[in-house]
Amino acid sequence: MTDHYAVIGNPINHSKSPLIHTEFAKQSGQDLDYITRKIPLDDLAGGLKKLQEEGFKGINITVPFKEQAWQQVSDKSAHAQRAGAINTIIFNDDGTLTGDNTDGMGLCRDLINNHQIELKGKRLLLLGAGGAARGVIEPLLEYQPSSLFIANRTASKANDLCALFADFGNVQGGGYDAIAGSFDVIINATAASLNGEVPPLPDKVISPNGVCYDMMYSNSDTPFITWAKQHGATKAIDGLGMLVEQAAISFRLWRGVRPDTQSVIMLIRQLKAV
Ligand code: ATR
Repeated sequence: MTDHYAVIGNPINHSKSPLIHTEFAKQSGQDLDYITRKIPLDDLAGGLKKLQEEGFKGINITVPFKEQAWQQVSDKSAHAQRAGAINTIIFNDDGTLTGDNTDGMGLCRDLINNHQIELKGKRLLLLGAGGAARGVIEPLLEYQPSSLFIANRTASKANDLCALFADFGNVQGGGYDAIAGSFDVIINATAASLNGEVPPLPDKVISPNGVCYDMMYSNSDTPFITWAKQHGATKAIDGLGMLVEQAAISFRLWRGVRPDTQSVIMLIRQLKAV
């Protein structure tokens, strides 16, 4: 029997998740399908209930529901509990729901395994303090950077996150005007690109061998990727690898099988080039 999975969001039309999970299923011989489902902005609870009644086995959650979904699912991994946002739900056979957040591990896998970027002992700068940023802080700190500075337009939100994750490493934060010195890895977790903007970063914020990473992925360069190339980043990496890696971790949570990510990243890059 074919098992059903979906990604929920609003809007959701341009999601690459169905393509990614369909490729994973083909590769691993898993009998499943995966669709997009647009959920009304004011009725996440109703949307989840409907999916469960329809017999779905699991879902991914994207903008703008990651934090709301966290509130609705009581059983969560410890990491997801602290992140305050979830991107994966398992509909268990006994009718309960389990939540997890695979974004941070997906980001770290892409940085470390796919791009050979060392995090240990490095100075990291994370831009943004919303749901996207929250999900990646603890996984980044697990790799023992020398420091992590969280910069946000609303400084108080960055400071709140510093307090929340203080036990996990050397975390500081503030507004963009509080950024001091240069950084080895700069990660954009803001929604600024959606308005065609880049956060106001000081000149020389990228260290001589520094790398920039945009958690956002689009078919053309995002404003942050363009900025990074213009400001001397050794590498300017978009979020496609993270998208595929977080999907692979969700897939393993649901199916117990770890799919190959490289072939799927290559496939999507080729489709983009057509
Ligand atoms: P998400 O769940 O995708 O992170 P969010 O919670 O709305 O979405 O957070 C969006 C992030 O992008 C926030 O850090 C936001 O900064 P504020 O907390 O100050 O609102 C940031 N952001 C959005 N537009 C921005 C812009 N034009 N310049 C800089 N930061 C921006």
